[in-house]
Amino acid sequence: MTRDLYLMGYGKVGKAFVEGLRLSRPGLLSDRGLDLRLKGVATSKLMAFDPKGLEAASLGGCLAGGEASRASAFVDRLLDQGGRGSILIDCTASAEVAALYEGLLREGVSVVTANKIADSGSQASWSALRAAAKSGKAAYRHEATVGAGLPILGSIQDLVATGDEILHIEAVLSGTISHIFNHLGAEAPLSLLVKEAMARGYTEPDPRIDLSALDAARKVLILAREAGMRLEPGEVAVEALLSPASLSAPDVPSFLEGLVAEDAGFEARRKEAERQGAVLRHVALIGSGKASLGLGSVPLGQPLAALRGNDNIVAISSARYAERPLVVQGPGAGPEVTASGLLADLLRVAESAPAGPGRSSTSER
Ligand SMILES: NC(=O)c1ccc[n+]([C@@H]2O[C@H](COP(=O)([O-])OP(=O)(O)OC[C@H]3O[C@@H](n4cnc5c(N)ncnc54)[C@H](OP(=O)(O)O)[C@@H]3O)[C@@H](O)[C@H]2O)c1
Repeated sequence: MTRDLYLMGYGKVGKAFVEGLRLSRPGLLSDRGLDLRLKGVATSKLMAFDPKGLEAASLGGCLAGGEASRASAFVDRLLDQGGRGSILIDCTASAEVAALYEGLLREGVSVVTANKIADSGSQASWSALRAAAKSGKAAYRHEATVGAGLPILGSIQDLVATGDEILHIEAVLSGTISHIFNHLGAEAPLSLLVKEAMARGYTEPDPRIDLSALDAARKVLILAREAGMRLEPGEVAVEALLSPASLSAPDVPSFLEGLVAEDAGFEARRKEAERQGAVLRHVALIGSGKASLGLGSVPLGQPLAALRGNDNIVAISSARYAERPLVVQGPGAGPEVTASGLLADLLRVAESAPAGPGRSSTSER
């Protein structure tokens, strides 16, 4: 079985995805008879196509010699060349790309995404996406949007689909903020740790999105909706981590420069938590129709205190897991683990989504 793949975004995650695909292709072909062919790739500036399949080793060169990129033109080519049964992989953080999913799903093109934007808009647009996937008989998978490669959304989907009821969820959802709280100290101030998290590829392309807690708030919304709640973005109560002055920095360099002013406050909060036998955590609480995100001191010994490095943790209490929660924990950011979540989703889609002829005659984009 052959599946045509189209990749948007060839940055940190996109490159790790292509490398993961290169490594897994031979085994998938020999063990499962699955031939995954990357037929198109785009960045914000350039795009390249090859109907026979692009090679990972020469992808950078193909892009460099490619055409000027426009998201709508990329999608037109996808529909003309591959159409129904093809799979779009979104490794951008682009709202323009996210806005294209609905039309693609209606056309029978499945979507696998690491981009949180489509799932963290209005409840109406979230529902429209699911309806489009249903009507196009296409798959929509977004595991990598929460916890990178950790099996969080899939676990919740399985619980709900098999008749369990999610009661509440307690979580730490930002790999960047975990990295900061797990390394904070007199020798490792906030301003330095943010730069380090950027260099390791943990942050959003714009780190202000992590530090303003917007990124974690989007994940809270995605988790809550997966658990069956109907919620608008403004209904997630978010406690700010930084002062308004830091958050209003006009660009990334001035934001990073201004963070030095926050160092002393963060170190004081860390010391106070330490004095109480606790650690700082940015904790998400979901349940009873409410969702929130706040800074808290978690006593040592509790599961949320035991995080290491850039770990995420999600503790799911349900009718079945009432006595002790189902806990998923592990590294929750980084290009390789995110690509691993995308590849796992891709495999499920490629082996289940129906293939078929090209563009449908009733196209409505
Ligand atoms: N890094 C992580 O740990 C992590 C974890 C989970 C989820 N994610 C998500 O993964 C996504 C990618 O993150 P990243 O760290 O790889 O970011 P990145 O390194 O900045 O890469 C983003 C890529 O998207 C491309 N792009 C932007 N707008 C586009 C458009 N309109 N059409 C086509 N391509 C476009 C960029 O093109 P240019 O090269 O031309 O700028 C770049 O190649 C984000 O949504 C992020 O939230 C990341």
